[in-house]
Amino acid sequence: MPPDPEHPRVGDEILLEIGPVAHGGHCVARWAGRVVFVRHALPGEQALVRLTDTRHDGFLRADAIRIDRADEARITPRCFHFGPGGCGGCDFQHATLQRQRELKAAVVAEQLRRLAGMDVPVTVEELPGTGDGFGWRTRVRWGLDAAGRIGPRATRSHDVVAVSSAAPCEIAAPGLSETAAALGVPPEVALERAQGATRGRDRGGVKLPEVNLVATGTAPLVLWKHDDVPTISEHAAGRDFRVRGDGFWQVHPAAADTLAGAVDDAVDGFLAPGGVAWDLYGGVGLFGAVLADRVGPSGTVVTVENDAPATALATENLDGLARIVGVTDRVEQLLEDADGPLGGTVDVIVLDPPRSGAGRVVCAAMTTRAPAAIVYVACDPAALARDTAILAEHGYSLDTLRAFDCFPQTHHVECVARFLPA
Ligand SMILES: C[S@@+](CC[C@H](N)C(=O)[O-])C[C@H]1O[C@@H](n2cnc3c(N)ncnc32)[C@H](O)[C@@H]1O
Repeated sequence: MPPDPEHPRVGDEILLEIGPVAHGGHCVARWAGRVVFVRHALPGEQALVRLTDTRHDGFLRADAIRIDRADEARITPRCFHFGPGGCGGCDFQHATLQRQRELKAAVVAEQLRRLAGMDVPVTVEELPGTGDGFGWRTRVRWGLDAAGRIGPRATRSHDVVAVSSAAPCEIAAPGLSETAAALGVPPEVALERAQGATRGRDRGGVKLPEVNLVATGTAPLVLWKHDDVPTISEHAAGRDFRVRGDGFWQVHPAAADTLAGAVDDAVDGFLAPGGVAWDLYGGVGLFGAVLADRVGPSGTVVTVENDAPATALATENLDGLARIVGVTDRVEQLLEDADGPLGGTVDVIVLDPPRSGAGRVVCAAMTTRAPAAIVYVACDPAALARDTAILAEHGYSLDTLRAFDCFPQTHHVECVARFLPA
């Protein structure tokens, strides 16, 4: 029976012309007046798709299960787990790396057009050492399911995609999949898993334990929830940084260095020795180090981070480079305190918020401190575009934008944007 456009059902199969890429790792197609977000297709292709989600009024979700007219950049995905019904970690393994970067550039440009009303030419830059775009992810947080299997989650699901040496996660650094497949489960985690599964059934959802694996150059670090977390050393921007094993650090080996370089370029000409700079959402001080090098021992860097161990490490990592003021607080809260460390004026603000972005309160408050430049490092182009519009309302306009392919095979992209007083 052909699908009924009035009552579409999961599993219905439809032949579609695939339209442009959209934010989130899918393309947009249209069927019977509805929007269909299609995974595993490329713009301009013709594909048979299978509906995977029909719960929403405004749109449907689908997977391309047969390509009848292929884009010239389509390639055979390498990973066993990639494809309809498979892992949710990668979105674009079916396209060349060059096409992936073009898709990401289109998404960044489209978000800026739609949410900030700006036409900005965007190029996504390849990271040094990208190679074939596999084996780069040095940190993973994988789930443990009731059957004891470990791996990433399936698309829009809590189901674990079990990795093994025969079927590894192809973007994970060498050794992480093999380590995960051979892991014994500590007794307290096994207990938590059993309790979580029971409680989860009651609540209609299953919350299963997770494990962090970190590539260290020797044997991978394995961290369960109850483990003592060691501090490890990472290198970027010409120096070493101490970071907790489960703390935030860029997951691509070249990303921290590349982004630090981009931030350094962006502050060039706006920050002099003796100046004052803020590193908001500072982690262990990666961008704080760039700022400290610019202002020198007579200058000041305030680094703000809501995770106390990270602030402590940032203060240690930046020791001696400048006058360092490390504060553990929520950025939005600290900006409200007129007498606090973010109360006065500042030459340059660098911010690197989580995916949700800075938001209205933080954007508005930053502009009242009259910085010569605001440099915004963003992992979500939609949040960046929304905040670009807010900053413009408050007198700061987008001056330069660079984008980097820090997460090959996925839809994720990192941007470094500079805003100047209009
Ligand atoms: C994307 S990471 C950036 C870390 C650092 N800039 C780096 O590149 O290594 C965002 C950081 O912001 C912190 N964070 C999240 N929400 C925050 C908030 N409301 N206030 C302060 N820090 C926050 C997180 O703990 C995390 O370390």
